Amino acid sequence: MDKFKIVGGAPLSGELPVSGSKNSALPALAACLLTEEPVVLHRIPQVKDIATMQDLLTYIGAKVDSQDGTVRVDAETLDRPEAPYEVVKTMRASSLVLGPLAGRTGRARVSMPGGCAIGARPINLHVSALEQLGAHIEQSHGYVEAQALQGLEAANIHFDRITVTGTEDVMMAAVLARGTTVIRNAAREPEVKDLAELLNKMGAKIQGAGTSIIAIEGVERLHGAEHTIIPDRIEAGTFLLAGAITKGDVTVTGCNPEHIAALTIKMGQAGADIEDAGCCALRVRCRRRPKAIDITTEEYPGFATDLQAQYMSWMAIAHGISFITETIFENRFMHTQELARMGANIRIEGRQAIVAGEDRLTGAQVLASDLRASASLVLAAMMAEGESLIDRVYHMDRGYERFEEKLAAVGAHIERLK
Ligand code: EPZ
Repeated sequence: MDKFKIVGGAPLSGELPVSGSKNSALPALAACLLTEEPVVLHRIPQVKDIATMQDLLTYIGAKVDSQDGTVRVDAETLDRPEAPYEVVKTMRASSLVLGPLAGRTGRARVSMPGGCAIGARPINLHVSALEQLGAHIEQSHGYVEAQALQGLEAANIHFDRITVTGTEDVMMAAVLARGTTVIRNAAREPEVKDLAELLNKMGAKIQGAGTSIIAIEGVERLHGAEHTIIPDRIEAGTFLLAGAITKGDVTVTGCNPEHIAALTIKMGQAGADIEDAGCCALRVRCRRRPKAIDITTEEYPGFATDLQAQYMSWMAIAHGISFITETIFENRFMHTQELARMGANIRIEGRQAIVAGEDRLTGAQVLASDLRASASLVLAAMMAEGESLIDRVYHMDRGYERFEEKLAAVGAHIERLK
């Protein structure tokens, strides 16, 4: 298993370019199943989860060509409308093919995603919404089997709890349903809006994406389209925090500042100097230890749960005590024990992490547990005194494109040990 060897203490300085959003590319790739015409997607990040999704589309029967971040999907014939366990267990977002397959072919057999480090990750809300659209769902042997041989009927859907991929799954199922579906308590994440823009380019009639009420007027069929994926807001936020934690001067380019406003406001309150640096770029400078500032993770436009671990690494060296409350996932504090090995002083009480800032951390051998926790360990190691070894960096490779190359290019002492 690859490791990262990092020597801390080097302030980052220069430009960090942001790749396309993994969490927008995944539903966009699944959406290609909805038409027999080719779809071309640009700015697709070359990370493991995307490769897994591309393999899944090929398994289902689509032809997938990818070249330097542009992916062409031709789903003219789908001979295996299913997502097998061995694929889904490595990437739970495979459940995103459930809606498109049910909508396009009237059949879908998708393995239940296993849980993961951050929580149980059920898909009960996806399933109940698809049933309301008229799909007949069986759950057995670890698989969800959906049948809708007469096609899907529009419905009024209300999500008991906001779910990002649940909203995306149902939106994709509804585009070919008879009648107009309304989804209430929909997720408002930018990735949902981006998916709706792609679907509308393919001939769908979706209104309200990005708000909590989305209306989808069903159409007979969708046609091919070309679309560029939005920038990855979580990578952009991770890079801003990397600039601040190393007391550097970093410009994050190719991002959408609006998508990370909750983070930049909190970073400003903590003492980082963040300014617009021209179109789609933010510059962060931070010459001193941050002030302890509390955060609570919430669905968009609140503070993103996917940035909680990275923010905690910064608060580990803050002046004062910060309270970090995680409201989205039940077990997203795995990184705290690893940060403690580097000298961080963190106490967990239920959904809350109480972080008493230290004036410095020291390098240590640590273990990555999930995608975003591993990013938080890289940030802490770049600031800590001495050398750190981070094991299981395959978690990083799932969602960050050329992570160590980008950081090394702005002065980080980071190398990958095979
Ligand atoms: C998406 O996951 C993202 N993944 C996650 O990013 C992100 O952390 C999460 O949204 C929250 O923003 C992708 O977009 C591929 P949810 P998703 O359904 O859709 C519960 C990363 O690091 N729930 O919004 O799976 C669920 O357990 C990943 O890139 C149900 O109970 O998250 C959680 O507590 C990690 N039943 C809450 O809702 C359901 O049917 C929010 O989950 C679905 C969800």
